[in-house]
Amino acid sequence: MNESQQKNWDRLHSAFVVDIPRGDMSTSISDDASVDWAAEFGRDAPLIVEIGSGAGDSLVPMASQRPDANVVAFEVFEPAVASTLGRIGRAGISNVRVVVGDGAQGLAKLFADGTVSELWTFFADPWHKKRHHKRRLVAGDFADVVCAKLTPGGLWRLATDWEDYALWMREHLDDFPGLENVHGGWAPRLADRPVTKYEGKGLAAGRTVHDLTYRRTDAAQN
Ligand SMILES: C[S@@+](CC[C@H](N)C(=O)[O-])C[C@H]1O[C@@H](n2cnc3c(N)ncnc32)[C@H](O)[C@@H]1O
Repeated sequence: MNESQQKNWDRLHSAFVVDIPRGDMSTSISDDASVDWAAEFGRDAPLIVEIGSGAGDSLVPMASQRPDANVVAFEVFEPAVASTLGRIGRAGISNVRVVVGDGAQGLAKLFADGTVSELWTFFADPWHKKRHHKRRLVAGDFADVVCAKLTPGGLWRLATDWEDYALWMREHLDDFPGLENVHGGWAPRLADRPVTKYEGKGLAAGRTVHDLTYRRTDAAQN
């Protein structure tokens, strides 16, 4: 962490970072971890989850626009979480909590079925090389977890700047039982999703950004 990140961390982590018991690896989440989110936020409100929030470039402005939601972000890279804390502090919002850990595990272990109203995965895992495809978040097992955790009618919003990953998402999710592609194809860009530093680099390199939105249908039973 640089000096300013360390300051953000020291000042704000106890208010906004939720400490979770670890599994075998530094970013894994113990099987017996649990969080009472209503108690954590001090209120019961619709839950939004972001996986791979980076420095909080989307998280903080989008959470600011949704004061009536409790927003939980997962990020494995601690310095990025420290930058996020700085943004949260500057925005003066209180409806965000950050977990330093693997979001795929976190979604599965820390949320009751049928309780997540939206999941955001924006440029979360840019695994475009073939040998890395097995690490991609968007695959059958994870989609099963997403279907279980979303509320009926809940939304999964995705964005990627890798064409082949965008097509892979459509291939895996368009006909996935329990999910429907809300727009029948690519989604229009969510009006308040900012262009993040990461996305800006992709655009500058000539890549096209694709957004997708899936809705949990009634066919997915908890
Ligand atoms: C390419 S960056 C994009 C960050 C942010 N969404 C944005 O648009 O600026 C991807 C981030 O996702 C994080 N990440 C990847 N897989 C993750 C996972 N399974 N759980 C939590 N964080 C993850 C990485 O550490 C990285 O910070």
